[in-house]
Amino acid sequence: MTKDLLKLLDLSQEDIVKILNTADQLKYEQKHGIHRDCFKGKTLAMIFEKNSTRTRVSFEAGMFQLGGHALFLSGKESQIGRGEPIEDTARVLDRYCDGIMIRTFGQDEVEELARYTTIPVINGLTDFCHPCQVLADLLTIREHKAVLEGLKLCYIGDGNNMANSLIVGGLKMGMTVSIACPQGYDPDPRVLEFAKSDPAHRFELFRTPQEAAVGADVVVTDVWASMGQEQERAERQKAFAGYQVNSELMSLTNPGCMVQHCLPAHRGEEITAEVFESHASEIFDEAENRLHAQKAVMYLLMGGEQA
Ligand code: CP
Ligand code: NVA
Repeated sequence: MTKDLLKLLDLSQEDIVKILNTADQLKYEQKHGIHRDCFKGKTLAMIFEKNSTRTRVSFEAGMFQLGGHALFLSGKESQIGRGEPIEDTARVLDRYCDGIMIRTFGQDEVEELARYTTIPVINGLTDFCHPCQVLADLLTIREHKAVLEGLKLCYIGDGNNMANSLIVGGLKMGMTVSIACPQGYDPDPRVLEFAKSDPAHRFELFRTPQEAAVGADVVVTDVWASMGQEQERAERQKAFAGYQVNSELMSLTNPGCMVQHCLPAHRGEEITAEVFESHASEIFDEAENRLHAQKAVMYLLMGGEQA
């Protein structure tokens, strides 16, 4: 394993399998009342420069369940908000804590933080990617479908952090990945370069949701305007009209096709209330699996195995 979890591009298929298998084990233990104290005396610092419900609660609960402590640091209220350089914050937290989870804007900030620390840094979402979420998605899909390899994963909507991580995670796990997004809202060029270099040519980018959805085993979508893009909301509503996961689109997919949404969802925009509610059990399994996937990431990066 790497020192940090900064982006899925850094992980091998073997690393991802190890995280998913560890997550399965930790989930089983939690459901059966088997308690681990591997993080007794350890602290995870959680830096949030953007809002969160799932990420904050699942990291904090996960750390507590493994016997450790999680500490919430708001970007605004800490000295980060007053401009203290990231490399200084990094070297200070390195002296107090055993791991850092950070949610922020630039991927470069997360990479910088990792460069200046000896402790693991975990990316809890940047504008570029959302690796913890996609590990939870892969865990959920594997639970429901038993395998990942050979399945067709279809993503409809903005070529954002979720699209970037789904493309990388899906391809690394042997899935076929199809994306539909409007022109001008493509995934990151680094991700497209990775996807296009797939030796098995299992990646396709379309301009219509219908083309992407045909034969899908899993359909994923996300909001049209991500955190930090609130002022583009009206313009994006126009650009993404038609890029909606609805029952008509679902009729093109394979029987038993799953739906995943990282949440929060905007019913009537990227997904209809009907499709959301008919796949709610899969979507909330996905939300639950944030807890188990992140416990696995912390366990593997922060020395849980050695405890
Ligand atoms: N899916 C997700 O990351 O949720 P939060 O923004 O609530 O953390
Ligand atoms: N793409 C969304 C994901 C939220 C979990 C955002 O960045 O706001």
